[in-house]
Amino acid sequence: MSGLLAGKRLLVTGVITDASIAFSVAKLAQENGAQVVLTGYGRLSLVERIARRLPEPAPVIELDVANAEHLAGLADKVREHVDGLDGVVHSIGFAPQSCLGGGFLDAPWEDVATALHVSTYSYKSLAMAALPLMQPGGAVVGLTFDATKAWPVYDWMGVAKAGLESASRYLAMHLGKQGIRSNLVAAGPLRTIAAKSIPGFEQFEDAWAERAPLGWSLTDQDPAARACLALLSDWFPATTGEIVHVDGGYHAIGA
Ligand SMILES: NC(=O)c1ccc[n+]([C@@H]2O[C@H](COP(=O)([O-])OP(=O)(O)OC[C@H]3O[C@@H](n4cnc5c(N)ncnc54)[C@H](O)[C@@H]3O)[C@@H](O)[C@H]2O)c1
Repeated sequence: MSGLLAGKRLLVTGVITDASIAFSVAKLAQENGAQVVLTGYGRLSLVERIARRLPEPAPVIELDVANAEHLAGLADKVREHVDGLDGVVHSIGFAPQSCLGGGFLDAPWEDVATALHVSTYSYKSLAMAALPLMQPGGAVVGLTFDATKAWPVYDWMGVAKAGLESASRYLAMHLGKQGIRSNLVAAGPLRTIAAKSIPGFEQFEDAWAERAPLGWSLTDQDPAARACLALLSDWFPATTGEIVHVDGGYHAIGA
């Protein structure tokens, strides 16, 4: 098999519909020579149905990243399909409604804790669960939404993403000696289930349409997926703890 990821074995989390960023990553990865194992959360039969739309059928393993038993059993379940992993994609985010849409000052700690557990801490948990299968040269890649600024309506999810960005740098530091990289893609707004669950998400859509120098499509997951593939490939061998913006250039432009 030829392609950017020829011969690589990937674990891809976060597919729930064919609009999921993770679906585009899995599709493009297969088209570029990778063998893909998916994980699914909750509605497994739905994820399995979506997985059948990939160029190659991909197995789906159940994984709730906040469930310690699922994490402990992950490596053995992955081994039923591949003998090791060259890359892991964390494409997971969740915050209870109280944490989004302007609720920053009122969201209770229990809800904030859920957001941080699923969206931030899980980056480390997933990497550690997959580590027994990984070798030097391996890569972990996650998805963020530029957390250097406070965004209207993003609220505690923004805090969770700031934590994710820091966690990726710490993971880079702690796994560097094993030759494993950790990098994030900071994507612009895309119309996925996660995005639609944010009340007022249209504000991002309008801002991007006005300001991104390259323009921005809200329904094209391909640019973000391509960046994930590049970071999973052998073409960023000395890059770790990095955040690559795939946002049409929005982050570089002042208001
Ligand atoms: N859509 C955007 O505008 C945008 C922009 C930048 C970054 N991101 C990030 O991209 C990633 C993927 O989101 P998406 O936009 O493709 O949306 P999506 O809704 O398609 O994917 C989110 C995934 O998270 C999974 N998930 C939620 N809770 C989980 C849990 N406890 N255990 C395991 N999986 C769980 C869901 O099942 C779903 O597959 C997220 O980290 C998101 O924050 C999205």
